[in-house]
Amino acid sequence: MADRGRRQALVLILCLIELSAVAGQARYSIPEEQAEGSFVGNIARDLGLDVARLISGKARIITKGGRQYVDLNKDKGILVIKERIDREELCGKTTPCSFSFEVILENPIQLYRVTVEVTDINDNSPLFPKDEISLKIAENAALGTRFSLENADDADVGVNDIQKYTLKPSDHFKLEVQNQPGGGRFVEMVLQNPLDREKEETHSLVLIASDGGEPRRSGTVRIHITMLDVNDNSPVCSQAVYKADVKENSPEGTVITTVSANDADKGVNGEVTYSIAHVAKETKQLFEVNVKTGEIKVAGKLDFEKSKTYQLNVQASDHGGFSDTCKVIIQITDENDNVPTIQLMSFSNSISEDSPPGTTIAVLNVDDEDFDGNGAVKCSINSDVPFKVESSLTGYYTIVTEDFLDRESIPEYNLTITVSDQGSPPLSSSKNINVKVSDVNDSPPKFDHSEYSKAVAENNSPGLSVFTVSASDADWGQNSRVSYFLQERDINGLAVSLLVSVNSDTGVIHAVRSFDYEQIKWFEFNITARDAGSPPLSSVATVKIIVQDQNDNPPQVLYPVQTGGSLVAEIVPRSADVGYLVTKVVAVDVDSGQNAWLSYKLQKATDRALFEVGLQNGEIRTIRQVTDKDAVKQRLTVIVEDNGQPSRSATVIVNVAVADSFPEVLSEFTELTHDKEYNDNLTFYLVLALAVVSFLFITCLVVIISVKIYRWRQSRILYHSNLPVIPYYPPRYSDTLGTGTLPHVYNHEVYRTTDSRKSDMKYMQPMCQSLVSVDGAGDDVPEMNNSLSLYSFGQTYSSVL
Ligand SMILES: *[C@@H]1O[C@H](CO)[C@@H](O)[C@H](O)[C@H]1NC(C)=O
Ligand SMILES: *[C@@H]1O[C@H](CO)[C@@H](O)[C@H](O)[C@H]1NC(C)=O
Repeated sequence: MADRGRRQALVLILCLIELSAVAGQARYSIPEEQAEGSFVGNIARDLGLDVARLISGKARIITKGGRQYVDLNKDKGILVIKERIDREELCGKTTPCSFSFEVILENPIQLYRVTVEVTDINDNSPLFPKDEISLKIAENAALGTRFSLENADDADVGVNDIQKYTLKPSDHFKLEVQNQPGGGRFVEMVLQNPLDREKEETHSLVLIASDGGEPRRSGTVRIHITMLDVNDNSPVCSQAVYKADVKENSPEGTVITTVSANDADKGVNGEVTYSIAHVAKETKQLFEVNVKTGEIKVAGKLDFEKSKTYQLNVQASDHGGFSDTCKVIIQITDENDNVPTIQLMSFSNSISEDSPPGTTIAVLNVDDEDFDGNGAVKCSINSDVPFKVESSLTGYYTIVTEDFLDRESIPEYNLTITVSDQGSPPLSSSKNINVKVSDVNDSPPKFDHSEYSKAVAENNSPGLSVFTVSASDADWGQNSRVSYFLQERDINGLAVSLLVSVNSDTGVIHAVRSFDYEQIKWFEFNITARDAGSPPLSSVATVKIIVQDQNDNPPQVLYPVQTGGSLVAEIVPRSADVGYLVTKVVAVDVDSGQNAWLSYKLQKATDRALFEVGLQNGEIRTIRQVTDKDAVKQRLTVIVEDNGQPSRSATVIVNVAVADSFPEVLSEFTELTHDKEYNDNLTFYLVLALAVVSFLFITCLVVIISVKIYRWRQSRILYHSNLPVIPYYPPRYSDTLGTGTLPHVYNHEVYRTTDSRKSDMKYMQPMCQSLVSVDGAGDDVPEMNNSLSLYSFGQTYSSVL
């Protein structure tokens, strides 16, 4: 350019120097960018020269330095474009733009100046230095803030130069273009609406520069605006209120819920931290919030029974001090964690067995701190007891009897009270109570047997303990303490208490006296067993004492009567045949059974060959024909034995006279008596001595017994119902007794003859007789009166004594 400028200056100077020599000049105007050969001007005509002159004058163009854009067509006398002309290259922004050259002719030299003006065409577009402009603008930039933009350039000039800038879109920015004094332009973008990164993070704008050419040309530059974040937003909780349920007793660390807050800002400005604010200290200890994530966890022991709901305020803050508070309502849900409790409000551990059904024994209070089903309690007791649970008020139960109780069958009950709630799983607890049934005297004593029977041998020692009755009483304590009492009654006129006594504590029955079978064969009495309850209860048992016979009585000979001195003899006629019944020994034994089963034997006899004695019946019969040689006086000793162990016996002497007439007998017997006395002298004294000793002893005994018996008899009325069977003697028999003879006609069958066992029963009864016979036996010299009184016994016995 500078070069070109210099060249132009040189041309100018040449022109000025040679101006005087210049014959004429021409001026043309052509647009730039004409193609080569394009017509510029008809120089021959314009200069007034003809073509021949041009040729002769060897016309040529002289360009002073620089390029030759135009050529001369001498034949036509016209100027044409020799080289394409770029106005912008030739002149730049200078206007108007022209170049000059000379056309020189020789012969004569003629110099002509030609000036060609080059006009602009719009062949250049506005051009920005960069395709894109990047801007970073803080979102909080103030309105009116200016941002200068680079301006575009257009090589064209004039109207073809940049005429206008436009900015699209223009919602936030407007364009201001200022023309500078130096001719340049200053393009600025002015913020006219606030920006928000949170709405639009980037903005893309296009700046268009347009020229005024025809056609119009334009250039663009893209403007890329990146918003810079400013902490201008608070965190915002995503929910105003958070609600969450958590079970009580949840372990620490259990996540309850997560709060979250959003901060529209970016990066550090959008980081939110969480914390629990404005809450009671206790609550704060139960929960923790994760600073970064907002997760709320259990941090302590939650107890539904303490608090059912908690409210937390969780503050969400960003680093710029903006914050929001999220409300968190935490509901604690109930867990069945409380065992129901039983409290005995009142309880009597003893209940009387006569309590009616429905009697209350205990009042319970049952409680469960849990909620709803977890706290709904049921109360029950074991089913094997006659008690039931009744609910009175809520939470209160009574235990009542369901039935009558009987201490004697079940004296105590173990009740297990169970309460359980309806949680899942249910919790329960139980309590054991022991109920004692207290005794009421409702059971009478009970004897082992209702009837006792005991055999006691007679002649027992007084005071003998016979046996023991015992009664038990199912009751308890005093109510079961049994005492025994003898019921007084008369036994054959004798008070039973004189026979037996009972130990009231032990029930041992003692014999008060020695029993005599011959007097009392058995007796019955009642024993009362009575407990010590109030009122007392009693029961009765009947005791039968059977007195057993002992062989304590010797047989007693009733006939023939032993008179001692008197002479009694049976007369056997010499004509008597074999088997003649001489007499019959009659004996009784007051014992019974074997003890009274008598047998008769011949012990001694004058002539053993003549008589025999019936073993069973005591009949004395001849066993051979009586002869004249046989002595008149025959003396037989018959021994009567009972069958007892040991056996007792009695002897009887039977005198038999074998004679045909009484005087014969008499004379013989007087002699006989003397003889006998003589013969038996020694024996007699021995017997006498023995008898005296025995007599003294027996007399003492008899006196003692008699006195006792007498007293007893006095207190007693003989009962007639039990009259003994008295041996029956026909009146004739007793009448003739006085004479000392016994007629042959008497009833043998009265006595035990063949089988004394068969007649036992007849001899069971006459107990009083034995006394007589004992007395009589003791008497060495039984008298007729004695025997008499025996036969009339029953009516006159006591008078005999
Ligand atoms: C009741 O319980 C006690 C003690 O556990 C026991 O000794 C007794 O035998 C029980 N009674 C009944 C009737 O089960
Ligand atoms: C014993 O008592 C009963 C009634 O309890 C009575 O029937 C009976 O006759 C009594 N027996 C005697 C021997 O007292």
